[in-house]
Amino acid sequence: MEQKSLSDLQQKLQELISPSPVQVINHPILTAKNINVSVKRDDLLHTHISGNKWRKLKFNLIAARKSGIDHIVSFGGAYSNHIHALAAAGYYLGFKTSAIIRGEPHYANNPTLKQAQRWGMQLHFVTRQEYRDRADSAYLQKLQQRFSDAIIVPEGGSNAQAITGVSELCHEINTQTEKNVDHIITATGSGGTLAGLIAGFSEVNNNQTKVTGIAVLKQAEYLNQQVVQLLAQANKKITVPWQLHTQYHGGGYAKVSPPLAEFCLAFEQQTTIPIEPIYTGKMFYALFELIKQDYFSAGDNIIALHTGGLQGLQGLQQQKDKRNKK
Ligand SMILES: Cc1ncc(COP(=O)(O)O)c(C=O)c1O
Repeated sequence: MEQKSLSDLQQKLQELISPSPVQVINHPILTAKNINVSVKRDDLLHTHISGNKWRKLKFNLIAARKSGIDHIVSFGGAYSNHIHALAAAGYYLGFKTSAIIRGEPHYANNPTLKQAQRWGMQLHFVTRQEYRDRADSAYLQKLQQRFSDAIIVPEGGSNAQAITGVSELCHEINTQTEKNVDHIITATGSGGTLAGLIAGFSEVNNNQTKVTGIAVLKQAEYLNQQVVQLLAQANKKITVPWQLHTQYHGGGYAKVSPPLAEFCLAFEQQTTIPIEPIYTGKMFYALFELIKQDYFSAGDNIIALHTGGLQGLQGLQQQKDKRNKK
C-alpha cells in the first residue's frame, strides 16, 4: 500500500467532516416544565462516519497514520455501529480494516456487515467463547502477531484516544452555545463517550456542567469504575459532577418494549429528529422520564448528545421480519 501522509489525512478530515449543529427541540413537556433541550446532532457529522463512533475513532486513526500504520483491526457484534463506522472511515480515509465479529459467518449477509464488506473490510467470525477474550492481554498479543501490520482498537473504540475525540465535541459545543450548559446527557454502552464528555466539560468549564449517562445494558453499575479507569488511562482530570443512571435499560441491551418503540416514533414526529431504540431512543426516553420526575430545575439548559447509530435500524427491521415469519 502506498505510504500516506498525516497531512493527507488531515486535509480529508477537513473536507469530509465539519462540526455538527446544535438543534433546539420543542415539546409540550418541556414547555410545561420550563426546561430547554437542545440536541448536538452528531448523527449529521457525515452520512456514514457518524456519531460517537467517529469521535472515538478519529484520534485512533491519526495515531495510526503518525506511526505509519494503515491497517486497523477491531471487534464487534453482527450489527455493530462501531464496525460499520470503522469500515466507512477506512474506505473514505484510506485505511485497510479488519473486524473480529462475534457469531456465525451467515451474519455476513446482514445489512451492517454487507455494507462493511463493500467498503473493503475483512471479516473474521469467532465463537462467543473466543469473543469473550477480546480484552485479554494474552489473546491480544496473539492477535497482534496475526495482524502484525495493524493497530488493534478495542470493542466500541473506547480507549484513551477515544476520550480525546469525544472531549473535542465539548469544546465545539462551547463555541456553539451562548447559554450555560447545565447538563449534557448521553446513551452509555461501554462508557467511552460518557468518560469523554466528563473529560471535555472538565476542560471547558470546570464544574458548571453535570454529565449524565443512561446505561442501555442491564446491571451496568460496573461502568462507574470503568469510566474512572478510562479517564485515568487518558490522563484526564474530573472537575464536573457526573452520574450514570442504570434503571433505564428497558429489559436489557437491544430489548425494545412497545412503550419505547412508541416513544421513538412520537419523538421523531414531534421533533423531526430520527432516533433508534437501542441507544438514542433509550436516552431520550430516560431524559423525558427524568424531566417528568423534576430531576432537573426549571430554566435548566440541557444538551442531549445524538450519538448516531441509525444504520442499525435496517438490521433491526430485518430481525423483526424474520421473527414475524416464524
Ligand atoms: C449509537 C450509539 N450510541 C451510544 C453508544 C454508547 O457509547 P459508549 O460505548 O462509548 O458508551 C454506542 C456504542 O456503544 C452507539 O453505537
